Amino acid sequence: MSEDVRGQAAEESESSESSEATIAVHWREEGYYPPPPKFIGQANASDPAILDRFAEANFPECFREYADLLHWDEYWHTTLDTSNPPFWKWFVGGKLNASYNCVDRHLARDRNKAALIWVPEPEDAGDTVITYQELYRRVNEFAAVLQDLGVQAGDRVTLHMPMVPELPVTMLACARLGVVHSQVFAGFSGGACGHRIADSDSTILITMDAYYRSGDLLDHKVKADEAVEAARKEGTEVEKVLVWRRFPGQYCAKTPMVEGRDVFVDELLADHRGAVVEPVSMPAEAPLFLMYTSGTTGRPKGCQHSTGGYLSYVAGTSKFYQDIHPEDTYWCMADIGWITGHSYIVYGPLSLGTTSVIYEGTPNYPDAGRPWRIAERLGVNIFHTSPTAIRMLRKVGPDEPAKYDYHFKHMTTVGEPIEPEVYRWYYGTVGKGEAVIVDTWWQTETGGFIGTGLPALFAMKPGSCGPAALGIYLDILDENGDPIPKGSGKAGNITARNPWPGIFQTIWGQPDRFVSTYFAKYNKDPDSKDWHDWPYFAGDGAVQAEDGYFRILGRVDDVINVAGHRLGTKELESSALAVEEVAEAAAVPVIDDVRGRAVEMYISLKPGYSADSGVEAKVKAAIETDIGKIARPKNIWIVPDMPKTRSGKIMRRVIAATSNFADIGDITTLANPEVVEQIRHQVQNAKHAKGEVPRELTEAEEAEIRAFGSE
Ligand code: WTA
Repeated sequence: MSEDVRGQAAEESESSESSEATIAVHWREEGYYPPPPKFIGQANASDPAILDRFAEANFPECFREYADLLHWDEYWHTTLDTSNPPFWKWFVGGKLNASYNCVDRHLARDRNKAALIWVPEPEDAGDTVITYQELYRRVNEFAAVLQDLGVQAGDRVTLHMPMVPELPVTMLACARLGVVHSQVFAGFSGGACGHRIADSDSTILITMDAYYRSGDLLDHKVKADEAVEAARKEGTEVEKVLVWRRFPGQYCAKTPMVEGRDVFVDELLADHRGAVVEPVSMPAEAPLFLMYTSGTTGRPKGCQHSTGGYLSYVAGTSKFYQDIHPEDTYWCMADIGWITGHSYIVYGPLSLGTTSVIYEGTPNYPDAGRPWRIAERLGVNIFHTSPTAIRMLRKVGPDEPAKYDYHFKHMTTVGEPIEPEVYRWYYGTVGKGEAVIVDTWWQTETGGFIGTGLPALFAMKPGSCGPAALGIYLDILDENGDPIPKGSGKAGNITARNPWPGIFQTIWGQPDRFVSTYFAKYNKDPDSKDWHDWPYFAGDGAVQAEDGYFRILGRVDDVINVAGHRLGTKELESSALAVEEVAEAAAVPVIDDVRGRAVEMYISLKPGYSADSGVEAKVKAAIETDIGKIARPKNIWIVPDMPKTRSGKIMRRVIAATSNFADIGDITTLANPEVVEQIRHQVQNAKHAKGEVPRELTEAEEAEIRAFGSE
């Protein structure tokens, strides 16, 4: 497939044929950009033979190549154990320690090399450079602190930490002891953190007093108190809250420390100076961490990732797709609180012994030149970010990159579909036409990239993630499980035919939900022990072009992807429903030119309540408390009634179409069709008045809105 694609210059081409399928999408086929020869010359994967090594005939043994990038205390005897589908086990019999692999083993050669460079948000603050030796010291000392508290292999510990080097130190200290860390994005509320503490049954919470965001030093410790309270309501008592201080020795939060429960980490560390803690040799299939993500119900899912399979997968993909060499300076702007940061700021890059940059703040603080100044000063040559950040930087500082003398060889985009126009700015202006771009499609569940092209072997095509990743065999299936042929212009559900080492092991505490959400849909025989019978259902719609490249269209479930963050409509709605006046609530996506999607919430009130009671503000506050500011709806519409089916189900697609000025579609099955026109009038007039009329939607966006919400 790569042959006909390679070497073609970027060019315009005509639009593809439209088709009759119910979910057919057609758009202009984009031209290709070939990788620069200079990149190919130095790439980790430039020989097409690698594609043969990872061909399906060589599965699963092909993944030895990834596992062999690590140090194993004991080599495994079974590469893939399928005896209990779909609970796959990789590298069974093998033993290793993730902290040893990310830290200790680099000391012999790279003791004095920077492992992490931390850039605080205040620009005059100066960077903190942490060498591998220094990282080793910090990880050991903090592991000693944890050990002292009696934490043991297999215990869960919840982290609610911002973008500071203490976060990877904490993760690696947990990993050193075999303790399962569960880091919650710092922007999430205390309530959301508390729920995750209870779900994972953590009795220790590790947090920080404060951090900088957009110029403000935020009080973060207050969320720990809320989290402990929320966990208590769900029956889990947090025994210890460990508080790192943003400025050691100086407490920056207003909330008091709770006697007997809260302790400053810098004070505990004082007793463990120079401590060395032997890394615990863990079975390959022991869990390394949990990462919560949203799904179709109100309850977030704790995705459990393994030690051996996960670490192998992120090491392999970091090497071949991120093209990380030990001498590179690599900067991923994602937050470590999301899977991208776990895999591609911490575990992948450090397992390869490179230098990983961590930036505390917002990309456009104090201005849109900030990322490029950081790149110039530190000599960053691999850059990794999301379409939302790219759109935003393009909007506020389209000419900024040209002012700075940095040179990327490689750039990544992740988390959302990227519009071709935005892609071209990324390529030409940010990358200065010198860098390859890898568009990486994957999920919290998948551990690492599963849809993306090897940068030296596949030409780039704006808007497409590319082919399936090495050793992953992707199919697009229709509702009956029949494959949709490439080049047909028809969309369907993207699935992976096979397991791979990075896939999550289960949903913490909910094995049945793991099976029903991801495997039941296309399972061919529940008793089968053959992996071929258990395709992985990713929950994304996609189309495959004639050249084999996939274009991801977005979620097919009730999940809204806001600025690359997954928000479950049910989570948003149950927050709103907790407000006294609210009778019904429905959350829908609206197309947003910077954040990709934003949330709009429709509310109907209980009889006897009026819209003047400040209910809008109450709903916003409820969502901020339960989830966090990122989930705050763009608009809340109080409507007389919701469009419903005769069985009483809210038809979210009708509401979504209203918010997006899209075609309302067929409403003949509605119990109350008259309300549709009423709502449309109300909402669209208000949007006209606010100047929020969207541009014309693309075909793919129309299709997404039409398909939104299961009926
Ligand atoms: C979406 C983030 C288009 C997709 C790593 C997926 C993408 C969800 C891409 C997972 C991409 C991720 N192109 N869409 N390159 N990457 N997505 O779990 O809908 O936060 O299911 O993991 O983001 O989001 P999550």
